[in-house]
Amino acid sequence: MELITDWTEQNQLDYGKEVMSVGHKLNATGLFTDDALAAMLDLHPNHLIDVLAVPNNHEYQEYRDQQLTVDFRGADGKTLIAAAKAGDIWINVREVMNRQPAYKTVLDQLHAELEDKAGKNKDRRNCRGGILISSPTARTPYHSDPTMTHLWHIRGHKRAYVYPMTQVFLPDSAFEAIVLGEMAEDVPYKPEFDDSAIVADLMGGEMISWPHRSPHRVENVSFCVSMVMEFSTQESAFINAGMMTNGILRRRYGRTPSWEHASQIERVFKSMIGRVLRKLGAQNAYKRTDLVKFKLDPSAKGFLKMVATPYQRAF
Ligand SMILES: [Fe+2]
Repeated sequence: MELITDWTEQNQLDYGKEVMSVGHKLNATGLFTDDALAAMLDLHPNHLIDVLAVPNNHEYQEYRDQQLTVDFRGADGKTLIAAAKAGDIWINVREVMNRQPAYKTVLDQLHAELEDKAGKNKDRRNCRGGILISSPTARTPYHSDPTMTHLWHIRGHKRAYVYPMTQVFLPDSAFEAIVLGEMAEDVPYKPEFDDSAIVADLMGGEMISWPHRSPHRVENVSFCVSMVMEFSTQESAFINAGMMTNGILRRRYGRTPSWEHASQIERVFKSMIGRVLRKLGAQNAYKRTDLVKFKLDPSAKGFLKMVATPYQRAF
């Protein structure tokens, strides 16, 4: 069975360059039912599962629009699915498409089909496939990814907003912060940005992709299951390394570099420096620590209970 459907000639031209969407049949694999997902979660190591709270009730008002790490130790797959259906969380099961054989077969097939449809010159390096299981109230705030992203939406209804890639929507300093690991999603957002967004209502059975760095955000309308492919390309790796150099120049040396206005020679040079800096671990100076603020608790409202004293994640 072919997994990708409705691929057009226009998709081939747009792939990697424009916001685009095609159909898929991932739901027909049987790997994304509640039972299959619960079994998959039970097999997956804790350190590759993130459970994040997206608190909606007033008690946690101060945390609105933040995603907070939840301690889910002790909860089995079934409980995690129930929590996603009833609560205010999203679960990111990292690398499961690479690590569990049944899922890996599917990821490999998607690669083969993309290669066949988009052409062999479209490189996808270090591709990681994760599964997102998220509550009806969940949302992913406005952000940009250092990787290329394909969102394969499988079950439920979610609305994706993708924004233009300009200095207004994503200033260089904000993307530099991302490649330096300073922040995950605090790219400045204004509600009026939505007027310029491409908005896609995903009902399950669509893959949406956008060009590298395009800011985006996602709002759930119901309980959702999606698969996210993240990978780098020669081009994205080149840009990320160059903008890391710019980020350090801006932060440590008070410069005001611009990637957009740089010459190709300057870009090549900065990208080379960035690769060296990364090997030296220059970005680690900017990392922030992940503090656990909630514990998953089936007896609590929304399955979440605040911990008395936040602690560093070590599971
Ligand atoms: Fe993203």
